Amino acid sequence: MAKPGNLIQVAVILTVCWSVVQPSSSAKSRDALLAFKTSLTDPDNRLSSWRGQGCCQWDGVQCSNQTGHVVKLTMYSPRSGPGQLVGTIGGEVPSSLLELRHLEQLDFSVNNLTGSLPDQLGLLSNLTVIDFINNRLSGEIPSC
Ligand SMILES: *[C@@H]1O[C@H](CO)[C@@H](O)[C@H](O)[C@H]1NC(C)=O
Ligand SMILES: *[C@@H]1O[C@H](CO)[C@@H](O)[C@H](O)[C@H]1NC(C)=O
Ligand SMILES: *[C@@H]1O[C@H](CO)[C@@H](O)[C@H](O)[C@H]1NC(C)=O
Repeated sequence: MAKPGNLIQVAVILTVCWSVVQPSSSAKSRDALLAFKTSLTDPDNRLSSWRGQGCCQWDGVQCSNQTGHVVKLTMYSPRSGPGQLVGTIGGEVPSSLLELRHLEQLDFSVNNLTGSLPDQLGLLSNLTVIDFINNRLSGEIPSC
């Protein structure tokens, strides 16, 4: 029969293995953001910082100081002059965005996004600000 001490060791080893195998929440966020980036066109390389580890340091990405979860995505285009836009980001908003379950604010105003927003966006329980004004989206802003 196994001694209790051995059982505890086995339990510890299993727990460590499990946490290594499980993708961490930040790896999932990073993958979701990278999938997002892949589906976008970015002629002025505004998303050039979106690579490597530590997605909380990427431009336009803000994480909660408490939990480390991605809570804000801010990617509005700066206006360079009257009626002139620089660096508009285009493409469709992919459903990978839904992996960012802790999002509170999503601001992609003044860009060149097309298609429609994923329906399930309304299921992100803490998402209170959705700003996609001045894009070329169709369909409705999903609600809860
Ligand atoms: C996190 O902390 C930094 C520095 O203390 C602060 O500037 C920033 O606004 C905080 N971020 C949030 C989302 O509260
Ligand atoms: C939503 O916000 C509340 C309060 O800040 C927090 O306790 C909860 O974990 C958040 N839920 C998600 C899915 O991030
Ligand atoms: C917006 O995207 C379309 C292609 O979908 C492109 O033809 C157009 O030049 C883009 N506009 C801007 C301001 O980048």
